[in-house]
Amino acid sequence: MQTNLQLTKEGRLRHLLTIEGLPSDTILNILDTANRFIDPKTHEIQKVPLLSGKAVFNLFFENSTRTRTTFEIAAKRLSADVINLNINTSSQSKGETLLDTVDNLVSMQAAMFIVRHNESGAAHLIARHVAPHIKVINAGDGRHAHPTQALLDLFTIRYFRPDLSRLRVAIVGDILHSRVARSDIHALNAMGIAEVRVIAPYTLLPKGIELLGVKVFHDMAKGLRDVDVIIILRLQNERMSGSLLPSPQEYFKSYGLTSEKLRLAHPDVLVMHPGPMNRGIEIDSAVADGPHSVILSQVTFGIAIRMAVMSILMKED
Ligand code: CP
Repeated sequence: MQTNLQLTKEGRLRHLLTIEGLPSDTILNILDTANRFIDPKTHEIQKVPLLSGKAVFNLFFENSTRTRTTFEIAAKRLSADVINLNINTSSQSKGETLLDTVDNLVSMQAAMFIVRHNESGAAHLIARHVAPHIKVINAGDGRHAHPTQALLDLFTIRYFRPDLSRLRVAIVGDILHSRVARSDIHALNAMGIAEVRVIAPYTLLPKGIELLGVKVFHDMAKGLRDVDVIIILRLQNERMSGSLLPSPQEYFKSYGLTSEKLRLAHPDVLVMHPGPMNRGIEIDSAVADGPHSVILSQVTFGIAIRMAVMSILMKED
């Protein structure tokens, strides 16, 4: 997949499509910009006029709770006009192509498209098609990439553990089908995290994952030892073809994060999950709602990160 589509020749951000190949100073700029949107005293996210008069279209061809809603809130906090296209009631059902839909929305003076699609490369396709002044953000495409999730994950880790260079991070679960895992691995490595581990059964790991610069574990007892951050992933049954696991109960026994398994990690370990969570399958409620969990902080920081990405894209026009 073409990655330099998102950067100009001068290295400025034109679209946000993937974390792969994104320079570390671009990532840092997004994290620092997000930080400036959060009031240091109240932790509230202020409304600013940066996207006033701009039309932002949310194009979600796949379901979402967190990403779609926080993009909408973020765009509104930037004073943009936000349009959530309802795909189910749109003319897509009458056979209109994705690019014809986009062309029509451009004629309605769209400034930015936020795109979620179950096909990898959908946001790239739109980015290649539109005029240079129109911005595209990938809000998750197939099993390929979810760049704003990785950025908000990094933001959350840095917020609670500012010295990234000493951290050990474990990503646990269905790595094979996870766009979040891929984007997180690229983001964590770009920021110089000391060690990135993946922990999963053989059937849920893509071949050659170690080439991305991660340590591979199949056993939670070994993989979780002394880690500072655990990112738990959902079993993505909707992307699985055939049976890759004996049963959800067996999976929980081996890979579900329980209070007992958590004790293997560093005593101050952070527990993260991109959502949606399946309690009792990949995570126990005692952990999800426990003192180590920063899962709901991830959601809040998602607003500031998405404001940062949108404002940087519009500024770098
Ligand atoms: N993390 C995430 O992408 O959640 P949603 O599917 O609810 O947007």
